[in-house]
Amino acid sequence: MPWSLLTLLPLILYVLRSISKRPSSLPPGPRSIPIFGNWLQVGNDLSHRFLATLSQTYGPVFLLKLGSKNLTVVSDPELANQVLHAQGVEFGSRPRNVVFDIFTGNGQDMVFTVYGDHWRKMRRIMTLPFFTNKVVHQYSDMWEDEMGLVVEDLKREERVRKEGIVIRKRLQLMLYNIMYRMMFDTKFQSQDDPLFIEATSFNSQRSRLAQSFEYNYGDFIPLLRPFLSNYLNKCRDLQRRRLAFFNNYFVEKRREIIAANGEKHKISCAIDHIIDAQMKGEISEENVLYIVENINVAAIETTLWSMEWAIAELVNHPTVQSKIRDEIATVLKGNPVTESNLHELPYLQATVKESLRLHTPIPLLVPHMNLEEAKLGGYTIPSESKVVVNAWWLANNPAWWKNPDKFRPERFLEEEYGTDAVAGGKVDFRYLPFGVGRRSCPGIILALPILGLVIAKLVSSFEMKAPPGLEKIDVSEEGGQFSLHIANHSTVVFDPIKA
Ligand code: HEM
Ligand SMILES: *[C@@H]1O[C@H](CO)[C@@H](O)[C@H](O)[C@H]1NC(C)=O
Ligand SMILES: *[C@@H]1O[C@H](CO)[C@@H](O)[C@H](O)[C@H]1NC(C)=O
Repeated sequence: MPWSLLTLLPLILYVLRSISKRPSSLPPGPRSIPIFGNWLQVGNDLSHRFLATLSQTYGPVFLLKLGSKNLTVVSDPELANQVLHAQGVEFGSRPRNVVFDIFTGNGQDMVFTVYGDHWRKMRRIMTLPFFTNKVVHQYSDMWEDEMGLVVEDLKREERVRKEGIVIRKRLQLMLYNIMYRMMFDTKFQSQDDPLFIEATSFNSQRSRLAQSFEYNYGDFIPLLRPFLSNYLNKCRDLQRRRLAFFNNYFVEKRREIIAANGEKHKISCAIDHIIDAQMKGEISEENVLYIVENINVAAIETTLWSMEWAIAELVNHPTVQSKIRDEIATVLKGNPVTESNLHELPYLQATVKESLRLHTPIPLLVPHMNLEEAKLGGYTIPSESKVVVNAWWLANNPAWWKNPDKFRPERFLEEEYGTDAVAGGKVDFRYLPFGVGRRSCPGIILALPILGLVIAKLVSSFEMKAPPGLEKIDVSEEGGQFSLHIANHSTVVFDPIKA
């Protein structure tokens, strides 16, 4: 008798163990097949619209397997609160992949690095020179000068008021100049400036290689990784040349100026601050370059997409243009719009908000990641999952918004009064174009006034219209792994308003 019990013991123990270790409940999701997971079903294009459709079948949190990788998709405000705020530490890392490891030097940057001491230090060091009200006040005159140059250029050519131009190109130069003057106290002379051509080319190659779907197979299926070596070499080569470009033409120039001035040197731009932190031993020379790289990636194109969207919607909604003009005339009584009076122009601000709502430039936010196994909505999220919050769907779900597919700034003065992108006070987790919490966008403090100012300047100088023969501008969208931009860069007629 005791013998038979003894022989059964291992079996009993095994059964008990496997009951207690039964994988606690994973979030629902489509059935996956070995090796590929759900990849063949869902395809490469994880668009915000497609993920929103899946959420109607699988609920507010669901799991997709992309090869061996786990992707958790969050589609409801309360769970967004959990990921971004309540469990912000647990979900505060960023997923890595073979390509991003190259472009971030294995996490020596800030935007894509894991949550921890390095990230905290980088974010702290970047805050003072980039993300304070003092910086906004120091630079807003410069921003307005750069915008004034755009207005002058648009007024100069007859073609612009007859046939129209692709406005993106001129605004791109403006935004590079705004950011490079803040960073390095230097600017590009024109769209033909060889340095400008090189900078935009390096950055667009970086975007293309990082956002491409071409490398997914090697990322999702580790066995196939050897076949990526060509692609990865291309990335390494670009990254090496791109960082050298930032270093030789911009960072080194500041080092020379600092050295020449010696003791007398006054910190006069953001990178001076960053170099100062490096000379005090807080960060490395590499980190300095990765800060430059992060600003190039995070600040310029995002703001440019937002401008293109807003302008396209304004062209298609001339009444919104005239309401902005009326507001400026009534409130400012002939004085120009400046950063310091933007807060007196609620309709202008509502227009910026509405554009970011309808055309969320980073519709799934920058992906988050949990280093350890975590709980979400009663489910277990496996460690090192990529976690995306469908911010576009939170802001465009008809269950929560009145006619969400209409461009209607008035909503932010009427039924959505009080909903703000800025995390001052109560956060509305349906409206997160900049995210919220620890990993939220620190650039919001610059992006909102820059967007408000550029729209105010353009609308008060011009009637913006579709090119001859077109009723409306095409606002079809095109997405990458991160971004949501206008598919067809708009050609816009800028017809000067007679004063
Ligand atoms: C309209 C323009 C912009 C939009 C829509 C935008 C949006 C975002 C979003 C959604 C995130 C990720 C939030 C998250 O992971 O939860 C982010 C992160 C970030 N953004 Fe922006 N951004 C804009 C402009 C800027 C500008 C102008 C700068 C800098 C000058 C900037 C710097 C950053 C940085 C450094 C991060 C990484 C923060 C971190 O990981 O800790 N952004 N942005
Ligand atoms: C994805 O989740 C499953 C289930 O918990 C886990 O077994 C697997 O290791 C995870 N994959 C990766 C790459 O972490
Ligand atoms: C882009 O817009 C232009 C007019 O602005 C039009 O001629 C062209 O067909 C559009 N292209 C696409 C792909 O929609």
